[in-house]
Amino acid sequence: MSLVAMSQLLIPARQGGYAVGAFEVWNLESVQAVVAAAEGLSQPVILQVGPYEADYAGLEDISLMALYCARRAKVPVVLHLDHADTFERVMRCINHGFTSVMLDVSHLPYAENVAATKEVVRAAHACGVSVEGELGRIGGGEAGIDVTNEYVHRTTPDQALEFVNETGIDALAVAIGTVHGFYESKPNIRLGLLEKIAAKVAIPLVLHGGSGTPDSDVSRAISLGVAKVNICTELV
Ligand code: 13P
Repeated sequence: MSLVAMSQLLIPARQGGYAVGAFEVWNLESVQAVVAAAEGLSQPVILQVGPYEADYAGLEDISLMALYCARRAKVPVVLHLDHADTFERVMRCINHGFTSVMLDVSHLPYAENVAATKEVVRAAHACGVSVEGELGRIGGGEAGIDVTNEYVHRTTPDQALEFVNETGIDALAVAIGTVHGFYESKPNIRLGLLEKIAAKVAIPLVLHGGSGTPDSDVSRAISLGVAKVNICTELV
């Protein structure tokens, strides 16, 4: 059916109280498996490639494979860049046909995160590409950096609203207690915090660290405003 920009899927998802699955892909088999599963369920899907997967497969190879399968798919498919670290990486991926990008400079001071994300939004929107930004720091391995407990910090509702308004992003990744990779202790997902963020921020919210997050928390998070759920570790 088609390759689409992420906003085409996520805006109706947030309004309709459902989420779209976003799965990391790194070779032809993983791309085929994710697209086939989505077709089997007649559901749209997001194929994600992060810096690690792009370096492993080669950016040109993985994007050509993903685009080929996406264009032949019987369901809408997004090709999304996950956790990009620089403007240059974002532009290379847009040039290779990605329909959505995430810039994750959430480790930088707030003002620098805003400035860098804003720059990406301006360039990406000029190309019809959607942008996901991140505020707060999610635990586990993130963008090649190991975020140990002392560096994790939660997204705050007021700053989330300010960040969305200042940057013009299309989707916001929130830090509410999920972690990238497997959990080392019992998950403690702050759904009350998510509810407060969702009350302030109308754009689709993104739940990173889907692997190992209890189904009941994922369902509740979706009902509160999460429109994209990221899964990587469980697929590898
Ligand atoms: P998991 O590896 O925990 O599934 O997280 C995936 C993710 O959030 C990718 O951005």
